[in-house]
Formats: sequence, C-alpha cells, structure tokens
Amino acid sequence: MNLLKAIGKQMQYPRGIFGKILFAWMTRMTIAHARWTVDLMDIQPDDDILEIGFGNGANIKLLLQLAVSGSITGVEISDTAIEMASKKNAKLISEGRVKLHKAAGNALPFEDGVFDKACTVATAYVIEDPGAVFREMYRVLKPNGRAAVTFPVRENFIKFKPVATEGFFLHQLADLEKVFRDAGFVNCSTKNNNQVKFGAHCMLGVKPTTIS
Ligand SMILES: C[S@@+](CC[C@H](N)C(=O)[O-])C[C@H]1O[C@@H](n2cnc3c(N)ncnc32)[C@H](O)[C@@H]1O
Repeated sequence: MNLLKAIGKQMQYPRGIFGKILFAWMTRMTIAHARWTVDLMDIQPDDDILEIGFGNGANIKLLLQLAVSGSITGVEISDTAIEMASKKNAKLISEGRVKLHKAAGNALPFEDGVFDKACTVATAYVIEDPGAVFREMYRVLKPNGRAAVTFPVRENFIKFKPVATEGFFLHQLADLEKVFRDAGFVNCSTKNNNQVKFGAHCMLGVKPTTIS
C-alpha cells in the first residue's frame, strides 16, 4: 500500500502507532474547525453534549470550556481513537464529566431525547450514509436541542492527495444539507468559513419542540 493511501485510510479510521502520529498532525488542522463549531453551537453552561467521531479527543476540552457545569459524551468506532482521547481527557473522565463509548454514529447506545447539543467535526466524508447519523443525532437530542455538523469544503479537500488516492465518501454539500433536513431538523442554516484549512461548512439545525 503506498503512503498516500495509508494516510487516507488512517484519516478515516485511526489504527495503531501510525494512527496516533497522524492524528497528532491532523488535529493541528481540524482544531480550527472545532473552535469555529463550538462558537456556533450556542453552548450553555449546563449543556449535556454529544460528539460523534471525536478522534483523539482534542475537541472535548473546547466544548467543556463553555459547558462549564455540563458533560460531554463521545462515540467512536476506532479503539486507537478511544485510547488517545481517554488519555487526553483522563482527569475529566475520572470526574464523570466526560464519557467515551465505542459505538457508531448511526447506532447510538442512548435513549431518545437526552442531549442538549450534538456535534460532529470532520467526519462527513468518512461516513457512507451520513443521513443515518443525522437521524440518530436527531433522536437523541431533547426537543429544542441543536445539532452542528462541520466538514471541509469538498472542492478543496478533494485536492488533498491522500483524499484523492483513498476512497472517501465525497458527498456534495447540497446532498448533505438535504439529508440533514430530512432527518427532521428545522431552522437549518449552513455557515461558511474560508479562514481555516480547506475552508469549512457548518450545518446547524434544531429539533423542533412539537413534532408534526
Ligand atoms: C477525520 S477524523 C476526525 C476526528 C475529529 N472529529 C477531529 O475533528 O479531529 C474522523 C473520525 O471519525 C471516526 N468515525 C468514522 N466513522 C464513524 C462512525 N460511523 N461513527 C463514529 N465515528 C466514526 C473515525 O474513527 C475517525 O476518528
């Protein structure tokens, strides 16, 4: 397997020591996407927040800086990611403020209506069926709960060599917006940021209080 292909694969699903090294490098890029997302989420001090695909867990501290008396629950499918994030957030986990689970975003192991906010950063192109993930985000949010989904601008990301070489799911923005709305979210908007690497979109939506 050539190096570009290996990097592409690890970006989608980190494994072992190479995954750890790559994620340390990748987070330097995605942390700016995460900071922007956190700013858009209208986080309240006591929010209980879900993060899907937390990678090495760098975003968790950003979320907790605003949810000062709240909690973060994360799900990931990669054991290496869970190991990295558990180490990075060991104190917060021991205090019960952070809970990390091995689970896929399209099969969340939570009851309906338990989170105030749900987010996912830089995962849209590694997931074949993002609509299934958005439906799960919707299900586990409380009425009036908010979702934020941030991902790089496709046209820029596609030029990045490991992405061009390895099979990412390069969904079009309009398709992602449609499946996000179809999941049930209302007051949907897409924010754009061209100040971060690759540029980024953030889809925001709210779970309605009354469901028609
Ligand atoms: C490109 S990384 C982004 C990590 C992190 N969110 C960040 O901003 O740095 C994508 C992550 O999504 C995880 N992932 C892929 N498919 C997933 C799924 N179906 N459910 C949950 N996590 C998933 C991968 O294991 C990987 O850690």
